[in-house]
Amino acid sequence: MIMGIEFQNNKFHLFNNEISYIIEVSEQSDLLHLYFGARVDAEDIHSSVGICTFGCQADDSDYSLSALPQEYPSAGAADFRSPAYEMETDKGLHTPELKYKSHEVIIGKPPLNGLPAVYVEDDSEAQTLVITAADEVHGVEVKLYYTVFEQFNVICRHSEIVNVSGSCIYLNNAQSVSLDFPAGEYEYIHLEGAWAREKHVDRNAIHKGTQGFESRRGASGHVENPFLMFFDKGAHEDFGNVYGISLVYSGNHRFLMEQEMYETVRVQAGINPFQFRFKLNRGESFVTPEAVMVYSDGGFAKMSNTFHKLYRTRLCRGTWRDKERPVLINNWEGTYFDFTKEKLLAIADAASEIGIELFVLDDGWFGKRNSDNCSLGDWYENKEKLGGTLSKLAAEMNQRGLKFGLWFEPEMVSPDSDLYREHPDWAISVPNVKPHLGRHQLILDYTRAEVRDYIVERMTEILGNANIEYVKWDMNRNMSDVYSLHLGADRQGEFYHRYILGLYDVLGRITTAFPEILFEGCSGGGGRNDSGMLYYMPQNWASDDTDATERLYIQYGGSMVYPASTVGAHVSAVPNHQTGRMNSLSMRTAVAMNGAFGYELDLSSLDKCELEEMKKQVAFYKSNRHLVMTGEYYRLLNPFTSRHSAWMYVSEDKSRALVYYVVKTARPSNEAVHLKLKGLDENARYTVNGEPKSGRTLMNYGIVIDSPEHDGDNIIFEVKRV
Ligand code: DGJ
Repeated sequence: MIMGIEFQNNKFHLFNNEISYIIEVSEQSDLLHLYFGARVDAEDIHSSVGICTFGCQADDSDYSLSALPQEYPSAGAADFRSPAYEMETDKGLHTPELKYKSHEVIIGKPPLNGLPAVYVEDDSEAQTLVITAADEVHGVEVKLYYTVFEQFNVICRHSEIVNVSGSCIYLNNAQSVSLDFPAGEYEYIHLEGAWAREKHVDRNAIHKGTQGFESRRGASGHVENPFLMFFDKGAHEDFGNVYGISLVYSGNHRFLMEQEMYETVRVQAGINPFQFRFKLNRGESFVTPEAVMVYSDGGFAKMSNTFHKLYRTRLCRGTWRDKERPVLINNWEGTYFDFTKEKLLAIADAASEIGIELFVLDDGWFGKRNSDNCSLGDWYENKEKLGGTLSKLAAEMNQRGLKFGLWFEPEMVSPDSDLYREHPDWAISVPNVKPHLGRHQLILDYTRAEVRDYIVERMTEILGNANIEYVKWDMNRNMSDVYSLHLGADRQGEFYHRYILGLYDVLGRITTAFPEILFEGCSGGGGRNDSGMLYYMPQNWASDDTDATERLYIQYGGSMVYPASTVGAHVSAVPNHQTGRMNSLSMRTAVAMNGAFGYELDLSSLDKCELEEMKKQVAFYKSNRHLVMTGEYYRLLNPFTSRHSAWMYVSEDKSRALVYYVVKTARPSNEAVHLKLKGLDENARYTVNGEPKSGRTLMNYGIVIDSPEHDGDNIIFEVKRV
């Protein structure tokens, strides 16, 4: 493999074996975007002459920014498309125009101050180009960061906007990335949804005008995941030029695509400019979140596998990054708030009997919380309800061979809590206005250091005083009534972003203080399933919908970008609590096994037969979890367009594979299914559940499945090279 950053004939070329990213410094010192895609030779690439049909660059009619592809377009400076950033000086100037000033190449990849980002373990893995462009009249400098990797077909981008003027400036918009694609026919996919219906695949054609998606919820949200797939029309799983852009950020985001009169398409991703206004005093700077851009010349599957490996090994961190995740039992759907110590131990007894490794005590163990209307913020164990201390309970779990884990919702406060009675001003709300509640709760103002310190102090005490080896970090409402008593009138527009910086500060402090704890992110299920959270927590509860049929969609969509190792997935009771469906135990398990696997039901109420079946399933998962966590992932049948769903994992050396096939909706007089496998060695011979077949037969002809008859029928194929 090779990798490098060259600067010749006023062109920057970032490359590895397979990709190129090319930027030109024009004669007018503008930063023009020339190319991003499969490897090319930079000397052969030239910018198109941006001839403007409606003169706007008075002194040179053959050159106009309005028709040229750009790296970080300014607002109001002869380009009428969406700007990458917008600013205003204290004198009201707001039409900056960036000109190239200097550049440097850094070996490795510097971290982003206070923000999560992809990292390298050794500087030899990547190189980073930093281009500085400036506008002296407006007093602004922008540093554009681009990292290229030797082993990944990825460019990471972010920008830093520096106030070099004599007084303050205001930023009204600061995107992480702006990319101009040449005229063409394009499509895009985004992962849309709702609570308990997250990450559904929505595919659209790019049309003239502006289109996109965003979050204004103070969190990345259930509704729009901060991830975009932009591709040549007609691309599919195995074919086509595909660009995946994932924003490493957990707050308000915006993805924008704009096709204008020259049929080129501008694609941007970054913090949502909605109610965003950031004041920079002289010398201060603003760092945007990182955008991770994957290029694939081989369709969606290649893009996904690049994200999976990158995020699994160079975004997730800590002790648990490479470790097999314990099979867990979570008591939430089994008991909700209504539990006693005896009940928990009865569930634990059954769990340990069937080989489960971790007991997670969910909501309801603190304050006087027996329903969702109180006590958030009062992070003190409820000894009466727990029949003793948490430490004692953890010890009793440990005696049963189980690790012990605990639920928190550290960003929230209930109006009915001691914390709120003592510090009503710690909650986000507008003075003299009755705040809107969500799930009966308010959000703590994480822009305030004393609020963050309180949470760190409470969690540290609890985590330090009991043998807690797992934490579920929940967040169950979105932001409204945004105002902080801590920020001045001129800084209220900084609130959303400062909240996320505060959150990252707390997450960083707690995860660093407790490196051995396995953390799982959650936000009413998948309300904050983003790559920002994965930097702190190597897994994320994918959805509050535990129905296996619904999970086929949710997990299929999520697999576009997030690796299976990061996806929390549980077997729950029937009828399912969200949909009322009666899926078989076999189907519920087949679907939940595709991630960090667990159970979420009252095991103590099941009969011996079911527990025996589960015991075998747990053993099966344990013997295959390494492959699920680390294997190359292929989507075989799409549940959004088919009655079936199927997917598979292949070990890196192609010697083993695990294939899942599930009937989503059965119908009479059904067809035989040819399930064509992917990613195997075509020259090798394999056994499929014991039967010999060649790699090329399995991939070209497939496995023939004759008679799937009922909803939820499923088959797991173990493929082994002979
Ligand atoms: C929402 C989560 O997604 C659930 O799994 C559960 O932890 C509840 N919150 C508890 O209130």
